Amino acid sequence: MAEIRDTMSQIKIFDTTLRDGEQSPGCSMNHREKLKVARCLERLKVDVIEAGFAAASPGDFEAVQAIARTVKDCSVATLARSTIPDIDCAWGAIREAADPRLHLFIATSPLHMEYKLRMTPEQVLERTAQMVAHARKYLSNIEFSCEDATRSDLDFLIRVVDTAIRNGATVINLPDTTGYTTPDEMRRLIESIRAGVPDSDLVEFSVHCHNDLGMATANALAGVLGGARQIECTINGIGERAGNTSLEEVVMAMHTRTDIFGSCTSRVDTTQISRASKTVYNIIGQSAPLNKAIVGVNAFRHESGIHQHGILANKQTYEILTPESVGVETDNLVLGKHSGKHALAALLKEMGFDLDEKALQRCFEEFKLLCDKKKSVTSRDLSAMMARQSASADDESTGGYKLEWFTVNTSNMTTSTCVIRLSLDGQIFEEACTGDGPVDAAFAAINRIVRPVEHGFEVFRFSGTSPATDSMGEVTVKLTHNERTFTGRAMNNNIVDASIRAYLRALNKMRAYVARRARYLAQQ
Ligand code: KIV
Ligand code: ZN
Repeated sequence: MAEIRDTMSQIKIFDTTLRDGEQSPGCSMNHREKLKVARCLERLKVDVIEAGFAAASPGDFEAVQAIARTVKDCSVATLARSTIPDIDCAWGAIREAADPRLHLFIATSPLHMEYKLRMTPEQVLERTAQMVAHARKYLSNIEFSCEDATRSDLDFLIRVVDTAIRNGATVINLPDTTGYTTPDEMRRLIESIRAGVPDSDLVEFSVHCHNDLGMATANALAGVLGGARQIECTINGIGERAGNTSLEEVVMAMHTRTDIFGSCTSRVDTTQISRASKTVYNIIGQSAPLNKAIVGVNAFRHESGIHQHGILANKQTYEILTPESVGVETDNLVLGKHSGKHALAALLKEMGFDLDEKALQRCFEEFKLLCDKKKSVTSRDLSAMMARQSASADDESTGGYKLEWFTVNTSNMTTSTCVIRLSLDGQIFEEACTGDGPVDAAFAAINRIVRPVEHGFEVFRFSGTSPATDSMGEVTVKLTHNERTFTGRAMNNNIVDASIRAYLRALNKMRAYVARRARYLAQQ
């Protein structure tokens, strides 16, 4: 028993960035981006990656399957409604994973059963038994979720959980689907279910909280105090409506407050948190709110005189965790033009970039060019360099239009004009357009060449990366088509250049999606 208790204090981190996160507005990712996030999660050492909802679309199925084939160090799960077609499809997508998990769910609250499922409680019980048993024919790693558990009747919930366990579920998840509960209630819910279900010690309990009232982190942690041994969460807390529990917050809370959580800890490599957060924000075209816990730009800044004074005397006066512990790069002077390839490789490794010889050579060449422009190269410069390299590798694999060159003519007295040359698979296209300002003129010229499908223009955002006139400008463009979002981002100290590249990236992603969908429809 003592041994069980020991292993039970390991809190599993079930990441659902690629399912609950990705399904929320403005957070869609393409196939390549999903794989990139999955690799990041594997480096972060989460226990389970929920790779998507396989039955949602052929694209989702393919992404889940590709992640299942790629990831080796985490369990890979996919969500399925409690229906035979969903479960069969889900199993098809994850069967090749090193450690596959099927995640079944059914709603258990009176509201959901009556208005959404149009099923009686007895029918829900029967479906639970049948579908868990059906999933059990494929594998033993089965998670069962009672959707809207926090607004369900406790006695009924106990019967559903008992039925799921008797038919083979090994993990029971109790979601706060609408972000309605409070920490006290969540703790009591887990305690009551554990006490009320006869074989509750045979399974692991899990919490899945939404942030509608801003309590997702507190509720998930309260669930742990009540005996839950898995937390479902997302990077940066992305997810439906106000989001899910943020991974970085629960992990760092348990890491920092060992006095409260005792030996409850996760196996997450906390030094990978900042990188994972940036990767996800980059892909979805958002930035962390300045004051976001753990990953916001201000999370480790001390501005007021009193705080700075305290920090200088002893960091612990105002710092409960260090930037290094979550992998935030401090802008220490690191390398210069006399530094060699080994030094660069060692620093990049420390920052979490493990490169093969070819990639390292590419970085070294760019690093040398950077050294010609700057006396010292800091980890922040290297981070920006890696982001640029990753963006151009992404461009290569997405394919589509490339910028050859452009010129703009602009003044405060005349209409702006832009002449632009793009290429596509070796063919050259040139157009000229006028517009309300240089960016408008450039985008109009691009549209003439690309002739994109009808789409919404959701976001055009520009921000400087430092408070100086030679600062890098970072541009984000988000387009929407067919309820999906296509994000392009680019950095350059010429803002027209960055805008053009960001726009082209978003357009190319949209073109790739439209072509893929057309191929799929043609096969039907
Ligand atoms: O919020 C929720 O209830 C869910 C379940 C499907 C796990 O996301
Ligand atoms: Zn959810």
